[in-house]
Amino acid sequence: MSKLKVGIIGTGGIANVHMQSYAANPEVELYAICDLVQERAAQKAEAYGVSQIYTDFREMLNDPQLDAVSICTPNSFHAPIAIAAIQAGKHVLVEKPLCITVEEALEVEKAVRASDRVLQVGFVRRYGSNTKVVKQFIEAGEIGEVYYARASCLRRLGNPGGWFSDAKRSGGGPLIDLGVHVIDLCWYLMGRPKVQSVSGNAYKKLGNRANVRNLSYYKSSDYDPDKNNVEDLANAFIRFENGASLYVDVSFSLHAKEDEITAKIYGEKGGAELEPELLLISEKHDTILNISPQVDNAGFDAIKGFANEINHFVDSCLGRVETLSPVEDGVEMMKILCGIYESAETGKEVRFGEV
Ligand SMILES: NC(=O)c1ccc[n+]([C@@H]2O[C@H](COP(=O)([O-])OP(=O)(O)OC[C@H]3O[C@@H](n4cnc5c(N)ncnc54)[C@H](O)[C@@H]3O)[C@@H](O)[C@H]2O)c1
Repeated sequence: MSKLKVGIIGTGGIANVHMQSYAANPEVELYAICDLVQERAAQKAEAYGVSQIYTDFREMLNDPQLDAVSICTPNSFHAPIAIAAIQAGKHVLVEKPLCITVEEALEVEKAVRASDRVLQVGFVRRYGSNTKVVKQFIEAGEIGEVYYARASCLRRLGNPGGWFSDAKRSGGGPLIDLGVHVIDLCWYLMGRPKVQSVSGNAYKKLGNRANVRNLSYYKSSDYDPDKNNVEDLANAFIRFENGASLYVDVSFSLHAKEDEITAKIYGEKGGAELEPELLLISEKHDTILNISPQVDNAGFDAIKGFANEINHFVDSCLGRVETLSPVEDGVEMMKILCGIYESAETGKEVRFGEV
């Protein structure tokens, strides 16, 4: 059987992980690569034996042999590239967030609906091994109805700079970059209820703390500390139509003792923590039980998570399974994220679905 021919668009930091995962899948040929920076694309092409190199994604999409693409560019290019790829008949795995506005998200959804192609949003945390463990307990009814969740990703020093801190290209700061992961993880496990209202705050108090020495952190491929117009902390309270609620706080810069990550869901019959590490909470015979599942990695194993995500995408392209992170979830997430930014801007709650 011929292999699925895959192209990578944007070959910076995260593209490495995509390429490693595709390279390990025997049903895939890493076929084409595209980056605005030609040398970057050429270097990756050599490392992975990729035959077709481009600097213009439209030229790449013209190749009828190409079956599917991973979009690993800055966020503002996600929607135009995804729409062009779907319309060119390619399957699409688009990195998170789906795009940077709700309007764009709806345009992507329209293009997907009008085609028979797969679009998977890169909500990689859904594909984590521990997420699957918790999901199994939820599906067996052991957590009961989940009515509250807490999602947090606080970096004291972690503004990646470059396009990440240029709102025009990123759509925002830690909320759209980190918040998207932890909110989505909780929301997915809560059963993806429709958002009813959001109330949020965004602060630009500390800047990117590029002055700090002796600590290293993730930086974008074109790091530039001089440009930074995104928030450095955001928090929000999200209400859902089914009565459930979620509290979130995220930062790139904060006077915190250490970095912190939290993803916890609370149900009528039990609770679950995915971050900082896997834990199930229950009550039996009038006694509270904290249950530690015995797994290889109690945290998020990124390498396995990405491999699962990419293998699932490949299986979806080959028609074997439905994607776990479809376009409509990307749209709902954009409503939540953009609603929080709007609420922070106006100082008012944003309500959805009201005339
Ligand atoms: N899932 C995750 O955990 C995770 C982690 C990091 C980044 N990401 C996402 O991946 C995407 C890329 O992030 P990154 O950290 O790799 O950024 P990066 O800055 O390291 O790389 C981006 C690359 O895209 C290229 N590029 C920019 N515009 C392009 C265009 N129009 N056509 C082709 N190439 C273009 C740049 O030259 C650069 O090489 C973002 O959407 C980010 O949110 C996801």
